[in-house]
Amino acid sequence: MTALIDGFGRTVRYVRLSVTDRCDFRCVYCMAEEMTFLPRAQVLTLEEMATLCRAFVELGVEKIRLTGGEPLVRRNIETLVAEVGALPGLRDFAMTTNGSGLAKHARALREGGLSRLNVSLDTLDPGRFRALTRTGELATVIDGIRAAREAGFTRIKLNAVILKGRNDDEVLDLVEFARQERVDISFIEEMPLGEAIGHDRAETFCSSDTVRAAIETRHALIPTTETTLGPSRYYRMADSESRIGFISPHSHNFCDACNRVRVTAEGRLLLCLGNEHSVDLRAVLRRHPSDTERLKAAIVAAMTKKPERHHFTTDGDVQVVRFMNMTGG
Ligand code: GTP
Ligand code: 5AD
Ligand code: SF4
Repeated sequence: MTALIDGFGRTVRYVRLSVTDRCDFRCVYCMAEEMTFLPRAQVLTLEEMATLCRAFVELGVEKIRLTGGEPLVRRNIETLVAEVGALPGLRDFAMTTNGSGLAKHARALREGGLSRLNVSLDTLDPGRFRALTRTGELATVIDGIRAAREAGFTRIKLNAVILKGRNDDEVLDLVEFARQERVDISFIEEMPLGEAIGHDRAETFCSSDTVRAAIETRHALIPTTETTLGPSRYYRMADSESRIGFISPHSHNFCDACNRVRVTAEGRLLLCLGNEHSVDLRAVLRRHPSDTERLKAAIVAAMTKKPERHHFTTDGDVQVVRFMNMTGG
């Protein structure tokens, strides 16, 4: 079998597929308040997405994560989940969601074979939640997390982007919440994708080292070598099953171990979150709809375009013009 190996000898085993650029929230670090979304014809159909996933798995990909925008606003997403969930060879099938649709969808996702959920949750204060998401309601997300557990998801992780002055005083409360709900939590350094509107990234940057120091005032953190094949570095606490992860693109670059690529909702294979190098897989899919060998050859050839690393800085400059909702992070 042809494996996906890039020009730096890194093997790609993880694909993040954005199933829609739309979202019911407008998080300040991810989107502008007023967004125009892609016209429907430009977005891959669910069948095209399933074909893509099958091709990637045949090329050695072991982990697929569905992202957005918000994946649960895509109509009939359950049918894609069921198709991908049935692919032999896939070891980890996950979704990153804002949680607002979980109460409605969790059971079908679980039955379709999704194994893990990451839910974005930056604050436990309803007013702050509204300010950070602009449209979201905290209680709906908390209900969604509980509904997911009841539906049988045993591996749920919270994602918290920590911004100085907005939610950095809630780190210990978020850890406490994760412990009580028996879920994991990752703390994320904000990345400069798209223009930040309403906050100055240079002022709000909060390093993982600062977050870790805050947690260590209450909990000893025990480093682990556990991995989810993603960028998070995990720690454990002596008295809890919950793991604490740190995603630190600025303070602890992880690009040398990169194992992933992304596909945007319009079928652009993006070789790095922090660069624009890409290949138009939609053109291949639509020109040769039943030729999976051609599709696979296009994916293999794209690997030579994968850049070595991102060059994000924390000085507030926009380095990548595309907003995060195009790639789902
Ligand atoms: P796990 O499978 O649970 O490890 O999830 P994950 O961390 O791979 O995915 P998730 O969607 O939860 O993303 C969490 C954060 O990590 C988001 O802010 C992503 O943008 C960021 N992230 C994921 N992959 C990369 C990457 O390759 N580069 C950078 N810079 N950030 C990444
Ligand atoms: N920097 C870091 N993380 C971000 N996310 C969205 N935008 C950014 C950003 N600019 C996070 C979301 C979600 C994950 C997919 O990416 O909170 O949890
Ligand atoms: Fe990989 Fe690029 Fe992410 Fe670095 S920024 S970890 S090279 S995708």
